[in-house]
Amino acid sequence: MTGSAAQPAALALPVLDEALADRLRGRLGVVEEMLAGYCEGRTRYVSDAARHLLAAGGKRFRPLLVLLAAEVGEDPDNEEVLKAACVVELTHVASLYHDDVMDEADLRRGADTANARWDNLVAILTGDFLFGRSSEVTADLGPEAVRIQAQTFTRLVEGQILETVQPEPGEDPLAHYLEVVAGKTGSLIATSARYGAHFSGASEEVVGALTSYGEIVGSAFQLSDDILDIASESVESGKTPGTDLREGVPTLPVLMARASTDPADARLLELLDADLTDDALHAEALELLRAHPAMAEARAYVIARTDEAKQLLEVLPEGPVRSALEAFADVVATRTA
Ligand code: IPE
Ligand code: IPE
Ligand code: MG
Ligand code: MG
Repeated sequence: MTGSAAQPAALALPVLDEALADRLRGRLGVVEEMLAGYCEGRTRYVSDAARHLLAAGGKRFRPLLVLLAAEVGEDPDNEEVLKAACVVELTHVASLYHDDVMDEADLRRGADTANARWDNLVAILTGDFLFGRSSEVTADLGPEAVRIQAQTFTRLVEGQILETVQPEPGEDPLAHYLEVVAGKTGSLIATSARYGAHFSGASEEVVGALTSYGEIVGSAFQLSDDILDIASESVESGKTPGTDLREGVPTLPVLMARASTDPADARLLELLDADLTDDALHAEALELLRAHPAMAEARAYVIARTDEAKQLLEVLPEGPVRSALEAFADVVATRTA
């Protein structure tokens, strides 16, 4: 997608049913227009900074999940579904402004990050502006949505904070990391599925199943992202490869490689404990990790998680919507961008 406002978005998943794909594309186009409006500030400077990442592109994965989950209820077309789709993307984009400050990243969605283009102050305050906007829109959805949004935001931020601290003594590093991932990414993707099902009028049972599905798919999405941080090039991801390694964030492939007792891995293990802000050491670690069996092990772990998520869809009748939600989980497990 080019990301220009109001352009019908390309779908981030192959939806097998053409009528469903048309409905989703149409609604995503409306969401795109609404998002552009929500980024307007009182001054040009604020609007420019707020529009920067939205206009740069992005997969619109979370609003798409809202719209897809809304297909399980009786009223997928209602205005609240569209607003909920905006809320999750605004929250997501706001978190990206802050995340790029935390990670000292300079490339996002193929564009300069706000911290690189302006500075940390602008990036943080623009993130706050977008969180504020997302809260304003949530207020239109009623007190229950406000409560869910607040809890989601708390979990997301706590996940981001937890990523910056070491596991407690005696805590399993993988368990610590899975908690980080569930918080920083699983929470908002769970809420995306929940909002879609809830605002389209689905039953409590279906809302519950889709929330759990979103939580697992969301964590898997982050784990896939961790694998891509090592495996993919900027042209595919729009980000700088190896950012997690450089920042010393021990993601799934690193945690799995660390468990190796193979003497051939001695150099990699040494590098994983070194300061990888050094360009030569970073390049060497990235190359060794890319070729390591931990990459396949991590991919297999993600596929097992998304298979679990797909089983939760058994509460839904068979048909194009359930197939699309299954395909959505598969795309997360095998994504290349
Ligand atoms: C990036 O999310 C941050 C993560 C939680 C991994 P996306 O991969 O959804 O980023 P965009 O929205 O497509 O840029
Ligand atoms: C981003 O995590 C999570 C949130 C923005 C909440 P990462 O730092 O792993 O994501 P990327 O790789 O920068 O997109
Ligand atoms: Mg980051
Ligand atoms: Mg980060």
